[in-house]
Amino acid sequence: MDGYSYHGVALMRRPGPHLAEGILTHLPRTVVDPVLAARQYTIYQEAVASAGWRVVEVEPAPEHPDSVFVEDSLVVCEDLAVVTRPGAPERRGETEGAERAARSLGLRVSRVEKPGTLDGGDVLQVGETVYVGVGGRTDADGADQLEQLLAPLGRKVRRVALGRALHLKSAVTALPDGSLIGLPELVEAADLPAIRPAPEEPGAHVLPLGGREVLVSAAARETIHQLTSERLRVLPVDISEFEKLEGCVTCLSVLVPDRPHR
Ligand code: GLY
Repeated sequence: MDGYSYHGVALMRRPGPHLAEGILTHLPRTVVDPVLAARQYTIYQEAVASAGWRVVEVEPAPEHPDSVFVEDSLVVCEDLAVVTRPGAPERRGETEGAERAARSLGLRVSRVEKPGTLDGGDVLQVGETVYVGVGGRTDADGADQLEQLLAPLGRKVRRVALGRALHLKSAVTALPDGSLIGLPELVEAADLPAIRPAPEEPGAHVLPLGGREVLVSAAARETIHQLTSERLRVLPVDISEFEKLEGCVTCLSVLVPDRPHR
């Protein structure tokens, strides 16, 4: 991208040696191929970079199997990074390196304090509205703390009760125009605007990368077909090894858009 402008920074954290031992909540454990996972991570990085994001790697956290899902450690809104307090106690050590990465980008830092819990995967920002899934990982206190931290930035938090979903963004994400796509049966639909039903489970997770570009799991074949026919520029990425661990395209990065004053 030298000579071109970036949309901002994409924070990522490479998978560690214990990836295959990541937490499973809803899926049965299946064999994860670490070599394939490493290759998929690199290709994911390249896809995000090709859409105009400068990739910055968060320091590895090799003792934490789920640390590749860096989104759960940080919520970035404008110039503020909220360091989370993950709902799974064994993931709490992941946040230290993420906080250092946020500081290295010049972001202000606040933290979700105990006893509240919040996972970044439960936070879906759509314009000025911040939907927060409350369920197995994020609790009411964590949602309240995020609401207080983001209020000065003009954000309105809307709580969403989760059904059988690990995170809110396991069930619902936003397309580039801000409309929602996902699996309405996994959330309390009354808490959200209309959700376009995804034709398949991996199609519930999309990651807008600016303009008409959107990253989608290669496993979401019908979703890719539909979105492409709607003139979105779809970047399919095969993340099968992370999907076996209940990860998706959103979990593998934290996008930090450039701001005029940065
Ligand atoms: N395996 C991802 C998580 O449970 O957080």
